[in-house]
Amino acid sequence: MPGAKITALGCHVPPGVLTNQDLEKLVDTNNQWILDRTGIVERHIAAPDVATSDMAVAAARCVLAQRGIRASEIDCIIVCTVTPDMMFPSTACLVQHQIGAAGAWGFDLVAACSGFIYGLTTGASLVMAGTHKKVLVIGADTMSRIIDYTDRSTCILFGDAAGAMLIEPAAEGEGFMGFLNEVDGSGAEALKMPAGGSRMPASADTVARRMHFVKQEGQQVFKFAVRKMYETCRGLLDKHGLTAKDVKLMIPHQANLRIIKATAERLGMSEDQVVINIERYGNTTAATVPLATRDAIESGRLKKGDVVIFAAVGAGFTVGTNLWRWAY
Ligand SMILES: CC(C)(COP(=O)(O)OP(=O)(O)OC[C@H]1O[C@@H](n2cnc3c(N)ncnc32)[C@H](O)[C@@H]1OP(=O)(O)O)[C@@H](O)C(=O)NCCC(=O)NCCS
Repeated sequence: MPGAKITALGCHVPPGVLTNQDLEKLVDTNNQWILDRTGIVERHIAAPDVATSDMAVAAARCVLAQRGIRASEIDCIIVCTVTPDMMFPSTACLVQHQIGAAGAWGFDLVAACSGFIYGLTTGASLVMAGTHKKVLVIGADTMSRIIDYTDRSTCILFGDAAGAMLIEPAAEGEGFMGFLNEVDGSGAEALKMPAGGSRMPASADTVARRMHFVKQEGQQVFKFAVRKMYETCRGLLDKHGLTAKDVKLMIPHQANLRIIKATAERLGMSEDQVVINIERYGNTTAATVPLATRDAIESGRLKKGDVVIFAAVGAGFTVGTNLWRWAY
């Protein structure tokens, strides 16, 4: 069976910045509380006329330029998002048209903060099946459109961004090593956007009750995330006969600094094995993993041949863990 490797990465971060001090003016919070409880200093917010497909297209174009290929060479586009431009058509269709990927099919993948890792797993599987040569996986979310900036327990956490990776065939031993993904739908109530779907269609009443915004049981999500990030990383390493020392970097979803630190500590990973950039971007949902990977590459921490573990927990609950040998 052929392998699958990541051959290019591109990101788009909108220029607008929302600092903790800005949030102090919107809700009853303060910089120190946000820093202590989350590790976030600022997040980027898309301009009002920018939607998820716009950021996704920008990230996709970075990938094409970096790899030096034409969009028509892409076989499949997977857009991982919980903030599509609209309910349908999928954001993947909009991206396909914008970049001119004439030969591609594609779809949106909804797994919230685990989305990008599910996308990587799916993309790698398509390539390893031998049916696809170039799969573009994009994680893009405009969280600011579904955040209630009167709710201090959620508005401090999220930002907007997009990131993309290209997956191509690889020789044996290169690239994708394995995954451990799970869902636990018993946690569905803990983190959700209640209205706008078939259960609670949009109405004047749902708008008045602010049901088109993210609702979260913060502590429940926190506890699940700390337990599951550890358990699945441990489980995936065990499955491959690896220990934490065999991993060059853990690139975790950036939801809360305390979740990341607790996971690393339980795994026995040192600080220099963990990529953290939550202070600058907050939680950008499906974009955190490619953004953190880009930072690791740019700072010289991730090099060809390194073993990396991606890990995330998100609404659903979803849990995603992937092992890759970095290939460029
Ligand atoms: C949201 C989160 C930061 C809250 O931190 P916490 O330590 O659990 O805080 P709590 O919810 O217990 O709230 C503690 C107190 O701070 C208050 N508080 C909540 N948000 C606040 C804010 N922005 N500023 C100041 N005080 C705040 C609460 O009202 C509460 O006050 P009380 O004790 O008087 O009732 C934390 O639960 C978290 O990060 N959860 C996971 C969220 C997540 O990762 N979501 C995405 C998943 S991918």
